[in-house]
Amino acid sequence: MPVTCSAGMFHVRTSGTSLVMTVENGLLLQLYYGKRLKDAEIKYLLDAYPPRASFDTPMAYLPLAAPAVGTGSYCQPSVSAMRLKTGDNVTDLRYRSHRVYEGKPELAPLPSSRGQSRTLELTLEDSVTGLVAVLSYSIFPDTDVISVSRRYENEGGEPLLLRDAQSASMPLPAGKLDLVHFPGAWARERSVTRREMRAGEQTLLKSSRGASSHSNNPSVMIAERGASEDCGNVYGQSFVYSGDFLCCAEMDNYGFARLSIGMNPETFSWILPSGEAFQAPEAAMLYSDSGFNGFSHEMHRFVLSHIVRASWEKRERPILINNWEATYFNFNEEKILKIAGEARELGIEMFVLDDGWFGKRDSDNCSLGDWKADKSKLPNGLEHLVSEVTSMGLKFGLWFEPEMVSPNSELYREHPDWCLHAEGRPRTEARSQLILDLSRDEVAEYVYKSVASVLRGCDITYVKWDMNRNMTEGFSPALPPERQLETHHRYMLNLYRVFARLNDEFPNVLFEGCSGGGGRFDLGMLAFMPQIWTSDDTDPMERLKIQYGTSFFFPPSAMGAHVSASPNHQTGRATRMKTRGEVALAGNFGFELDVSKLSDEDKAEAKRLTAFVKRRRSLISGGTFTRLSSPFENNLTAWQFADKHEKPQSVIICAYRLLAEPNGRVLSVHAQGLDEKADYRDIASGKVYSGGALMYAGLPIPELCGDFDSRVIELEKVKSKD
Ligand code: DGJ
Repeated sequence: MPVTCSAGMFHVRTSGTSLVMTVENGLLLQLYYGKRLKDAEIKYLLDAYPPRASFDTPMAYLPLAAPAVGTGSYCQPSVSAMRLKTGDNVTDLRYRSHRVYEGKPELAPLPSSRGQSRTLELTLEDSVTGLVAVLSYSIFPDTDVISVSRRYENEGGEPLLLRDAQSASMPLPAGKLDLVHFPGAWARERSVTRREMRAGEQTLLKSSRGASSHSNNPSVMIAERGASEDCGNVYGQSFVYSGDFLCCAEMDNYGFARLSIGMNPETFSWILPSGEAFQAPEAAMLYSDSGFNGFSHEMHRFVLSHIVRASWEKRERPILINNWEATYFNFNEEKILKIAGEARELGIEMFVLDDGWFGKRDSDNCSLGDWKADKSKLPNGLEHLVSEVTSMGLKFGLWFEPEMVSPNSELYREHPDWCLHAEGRPRTEARSQLILDLSRDEVAEYVYKSVASVLRGCDITYVKWDMNRNMTEGFSPALPPERQLETHHRYMLNLYRVFARLNDEFPNVLFEGCSGGGGRFDLGMLAFMPQIWTSDDTDPMERLKIQYGTSFFFPPSAMGAHVSASPNHQTGRATRMKTRGEVALAGNFGFELDVSKLSDEDKAEAKRLTAFVKRRRSLISGGTFTRLSSPFENNLTAWQFADKHEKPQSVIICAYRLLAEPNGRVLSVHAQGLDEKADYRDIASGKVYSGGALMYAGLPIPELCGDFDSRVIELEKVKSKD
């Protein structure tokens, strides 16, 4: 894993990429990020940045690796530090030193990537304020992703007010470029959005909601205009953080682009007394010359091998049934056991009890915070239900929403000051609930204990950790006035501490993240919870778009995906069990409907689906996922799973048609990455095709029937012509 530093050039190389930086007049410049170079002999690239009009300082046109504030750089600053004594925030970072070491910086309690690594650390300083910025670039032997993080230290004598603390700032070459990002809303998460970048324009993507949010995902790409799924240059960043963020994609007036991500100054500042440090979260940064699919393959590998906890990297995830859409709040022990019993017959492996099992929660307007079983629904207690379900041979999972408190709860009556709020202002409720002030240690302790004590009491092997509203009045009267804008981040730090403690104490519990569906789908959550409920929208046709958009940065094994009832509760659309199942099997497969009410035909189909998933889940969650046809552009959506061999043996192609077309042409898909010299047999039809034909000529999809139909085609290599 080479990191070379010589003749004033810093060269960070992964197996496929190079990042080259240099120092010029004390300024750290990023000269190149792209396809791997044999050496760093590229100082001549400085010629691309000649001195400009006399009214611009060099800061305005040089490719600064850490642009700051007040000395002529007008792009999104990496950091600004205000001297509380003078009130100015001029920040001028100049190179001080560097070192290379094995391993990477320890960021705990912040989540960060794991595994064998080597790090280039560059230290910059502002000689007036004493602000020191420590920039870390870490590489791994098995991925092109570079993990970047920044620590800001105050070595001066006066306290500083830190703003704009970015984790990554990536100057990119000039060219015709597009910004690709993933905005959304509840039930419509992560839609693929591509727009032209123009000189002089800055696009700010952000969350100030106290969660990475449904609205914008902290994972963003810049692609050359011609880049497609399968070719072209693509650059991207993904924040390893689950709270507020600011991502800025900009193109300066000379046409040079920059992508940066970090804390959102709208809801963040940090008092940095002399001698203290602030650690900004990590970001994953990636370049691929193989289009969006090439980018995603690399990113998925990184997520599984370096973000998700090692114990879950390859572990099979259970097929579960969740009672939310089956019962909502209206259940009792008998009903649950009936669903669980039927689920077992269908081959389902785990029962998950969702919202409504605690306090007096018959609707969403009370009891959050009171994590004791509701005896009117579960008269024999939670422990009894768990043991009944587990004795059927099913595992048991439980829903919590631990970060919340209902004003109508014992917890709130006892501790009305334990929620986030601003003195003298109304406490804005959403879904009739408030957010606990996790920036306070005693509140975080309560949250930890409430979950841990339930998990200690019974055999629970899965927790769905929900979070159903965003922050308002996100302040903590427990902090001094000058530290109020630290509240959101302190909340996240303590939340991560709680996650780490629970992971340590319950290493065999599978935690699934959730936030009103996919409102907190990010690398920070995945570091503690290897899967996330992708969306509350379980309509299969809507799910195609959501899972497709999510897959740009996140692998299928990170996405919870369930078969729900038809007509669908979110859209009213009626679809076949087969289609619902064949969409859900492309993620962490499960059910979310009352299986005791299914027709015999649907039960048979559900059994077929669970058997299929058991047989193929290692390929689906451990193989290479490739997008073949986009639901954002086509009537046919398609994707493919292939085993990890360079020349795959086993391939599954999934194709889904939205609307039937009268007298239309037969739709076909082009497979990707097969062994072109080998033959592959379609297991169902017995037909044999050459890998080359499947890729270049395409595979006609067997006849589809009506709207919303799907086909799953399993191909096995039969012989190689090598
Ligand atoms: C939102 C989640 O996304 C749903 O799956 C369900 O758990 C509800 N919350 C329960 O309140």
